[in-house]
Order: sequence, then structure tokens, then C-alpha cells
Amino acid sequence: MTSDRTPEYLTISPTEIDPALVRRAADALRAGGLVAFPTETVYGLGCDAFNEAAVQRVFDAKGRPLSDPLIVHVDGMAMLERVVAGPLPDIAVALIDRFWPGPLTLVLPRCADLPEIVSSGLPSVAVRFPAHPVASAIVTACGTPVAAPSANRFSHVSPTSAQHVLADLGDSCDVIVDSGRTERGLESTVVVIADDEAVVLRHGAIPLEVLGDHGALRVSEASNASPVKASPGHEKRHYSPRAPTVAIASGILRSASPETLAALARRGVVLAGYADRPCPLPEGWRFEPLGSALALDEVAHDLYAALRRMDASGADVIVLELTGAPGLGRAIDDRITRAASSLVVEDPGDLASAIDAARSP
Ligand code: TXA
Ligand code: MG
Repeated sequence: MTSDRTPEYLTISPTEIDPALVRRAADALRAGGLVAFPTETVYGLGCDAFNEAAVQRVFDAKGRPLSDPLIVHVDGMAMLERVVAGPLPDIAVALIDRFWPGPLTLVLPRCADLPEIVSSGLPSVAVRFPAHPVASAIVTACGTPVAAPSANRFSHVSPTSAQHVLADLGDSCDVIVDSGRTERGLESTVVVIADDEAVVLRHGAIPLEVLGDHGALRVSEASNASPVKASPGHEKRHYSPRAPTVAIASGILRSASPETLAALARRGVVLAGYADRPCPLPEGWRFEPLGSALALDEVAHDLYAALRRMDASGADVIVLELTGAPGLGRAIDDRITRAASSLVVEDPGDLASAIDAARSP
């Protein structure tokens, strides 16, 4: 279901927040409306988490399967307590102390009052307290937790500007709040608290190394071997541009022989790599710099906008180079890999056929 009118467009400066505009966005949420708003990571498509019909509209607007649970946004501990059950585990308290407000989502036992649709019937709920001043002002003015997935069509690239939201979901939002480009550019890190351990379900804006880097906290990565711990809905193809996309292991073009490079001559191929890691460009290819491999925060900030730019420029095929780096590189490489439907070419000799296969599905 979509609303049949153009959304109300509110420009709210994050440094000079207009309370009247925040109130308008909050009133729309309280009335069961869909409000797209900025966070420090990506834009979210928000609704009142306790309004089942509104939550259903969010799934419909995105074309998202009901089996893929949403993140609930809160403005502090009191609101957190309305969506979770029981006392918080010590690890959760430690993580909240250190990282909230911020791009860390915690998966915790769900309060029975919260509509099941929010977390796809799971006994858990994902919660975060966003660090963006406009996001938290809206949640506070709303007075109720706000369920919000990223404000893009399902499996498309996440939005880092209000223009991206308009392009994907302009006909289904009641209100779009524009506060400019988002700072981090990649989604929050999703962590489930299991016994005495924090397990990362989705790499994101806070790297694993930073999460684990304090006290006795044990942090690990969800392994594919334990499907219970995999994040539902974290699909193989996700964050994808429209153009067919192939991921390549870091540096493989630099090691390619002249014959291999010659065999890669094609028109309409865009190679997205790192400005400070120059590599030979096969004939007919165009280079799109993703920024410097030494400044991964800048790469993260611009990655989704770059994917949308390449689509808009009419790329036939997009070749994305992995960073191969730890830290934020893990989250960037996760998104690049999923944008390419998990097709990662490790050997330059395999690249020509991978490109041709991607182009003619
Ligand atoms: O930065 C972000 O997290 C953004 C902004 C808007 O806050 N939101 C976002 O939401 O990325 P979304 O819906 O695109 O991604 C939510 C992720 C999915 O991978 C989902 O599977 C996981 O969180 N998730 C939600 N509830 C969960 C649960 N109960 N257990 C495990 N994973 C859950
Ligand atoms: Mg998303």
C-alpha cells in the first residue's frame, strides 16, 4: 500500500534544529504515518513501533518480506525498557555505556507488548539509540519507539541522502526529513548478546575491533556454521545497484598479465577502486574512485552514493574492488560482496567470463 500523494518535505538543519518541524514529523508518526528521517548511518523509514498497521505499511513500502525484522529506534534507557523483556545482561549495559547514542544495534529479548510483526515473530528485538540529533529529537517528540529499516526498496542500495529516499520511496512516505548527507554512510553494527559474549551479526559503522577493545568483553563474528546466529534477512544479494555487479579481490588487476588485461577490453564497464591504489584499466573501462584505501571512513561515507552515481551514469557492469582491510574494511567488503550477490572473483583470469555472465543473466 502506498499513499497517493507526494510526501511533505521538511528540511531540518542538524545544527539548528527547528522544533516546529520536528513536531510535524513526530505528529505524522503518532498518526500512523511513514516518516523518512536521517540517522548518522543511513536514512530510515520510520513508523510508530507499537502501531501494527503502520509497521505493515513499512514492509509494503519497501517490498520487504515479513521475515526480515526491523530495528527499533529509542532515545534512551527508559524507552529501551518499553521494548525489551527482563533485566539487561551485563554485556549489554557495558556496550550501551560505551557506544550509545551511536551506530550499534543490540539484539535483546523482546517485550511481549511489542507487536510481533516488528521482529518477525522472533523472541528478540533489535534496538538502537541513533546519534543523529535530528533522529533523536524526532523520537523524543514522538514519545514512542520508532521502528525503522533503511529507507530504500528491498535489496537496493541504502540511502545516504533525502534525495535517495525520494528516488526509492517518494510515493510511499508521508514525510521526508532532509538533513543532508549522512555522516557514516554504512548501517549500524548489529550485535546479539549470547551468554557472556557479543556476537556480531552484521558488520557496520563500529568495527569489531573497536567493540572488543575495552575491558573483558568477548566479541566474535557470527559463523556461517551456526545458522541460529545469522541475521535473518541479511540476504546474499543486498545493497545492490541496478547494473550487474562483480566484486574482485583486492589488487587482482595489478597482478594481471598484459594478455589478461587485453582480454578484458569491454565497453560500459566501470571499475570502482581506490584513488591511492592505481591499477591498469582495460580498454573501454572507466574508473570511479571510492576514495582512499587509507581513509576507509571516507570510503564508507560515499560508497552507497557512488553505487547510485554509477547506475545513473549508465554503467553496463560495475566491478567493485574489495578493500581486503580489517576494521571498517570488513563492513565495506560485506556490502561490496552483497552488492555483487556474493560473486567474488579472486583470479584475474576468471574476470572476463564473470563480467560476461553478470551482463547476460
Ligand atoms: O544503521 C542502521 O541500522 C539503519 C538505520 C536506519 O538505523 N537501519 C537499518 O535497518 O539498517 P535494516 O532494516 O535495513 O537492517 C536491519 C538489520 C537486518 O539485517 C535484520 O535482519 C537485523 O537488523 N535484525 C533486526 N531485528 C533482528 C533480530 N531480532 N534478530 C537478529 N537480527 C535482527
Ligand atoms: Mg537495509
